[in-house]
Amino acid sequence: MTFRTISILALSGSLRAASYNTRLLHAVARLAPAGVDIAVYQGLGALPLFNPDLALTELPAVVALQQAVAAADGILIASPEYAHGVSGVMKNALDWLVGSEQFPGKPVALLNASPRATHAQAALVEILNTMSARIVSQASIALPLLGSGLDQDGIVQHATLGTILRDAIAAFAAAIQTPECALIGAAFPVK
Ligand SMILES: Cc1cc2nc3c(=O)[nH]c(=O)nc-3n(C[C@H](O)[C@H](O)[C@H](O)COP(=O)(O)O)c2cc1C
Repeated sequence: MTFRTISILALSGSLRAASYNTRLLHAVARLAPAGVDIAVYQGLGALPLFNPDLALTELPAVVALQQAVAAADGILIASPEYAHGVSGVMKNALDWLVGSEQFPGKPVALLNASPRATHAQAALVEILNTMSARIVSQASIALPLLGSGLDQDGIVQHATLGTILRDAIAAFAAAIQTPECALIGAAFPVK
């Protein structure tokens, strides 16, 4: 029997060059097992501000995001919390995806570089449930990276973090392959 590669699209809600959330996603991409491909999306900063009047206009940056989401078997999201909310970058991207035919049922895992980002994570759960995404709680974790000084290599090589992240990706891949085993709309756990 042959298995096709699982394609996962990773979206960071931070545009900071030294973003811990973006580093986390790049590290996860490197820790993914054979058969799981994780691509960190680079184009969220190029999206225009969401305007429903433009929803039917084929804006290149929007079409690119929608096509990347459509082609992905699952979505990884890591977004900072700003003033107890989801970052504008992430909310804007999700608003462009609200009408996307491919989003309902899409498996989504929520990573975060800060266990303190509880308001943003709860808001993401609410938003994603409203968009009919399938949140995979077993693969959703928050790690204390803020202020750690760990760069992408440091996260990859960290024994404990590496193991936790490998387990999270394995759980996400398993949920993508066996949808009936995944928890739907479960509460977001902070480990
Ligand atoms: C304007 C602003 C508001 C913030 N508000 C919060 C907040 O309400 N709660 C929180 O836990 N962290 C807050 N933070 C800290 C960021 O969430 C934290 O720096 C973030 O995790 C960094 O993510 P990044 O390294 O991926 O950019 C805030 C940071 C900024 C710049």
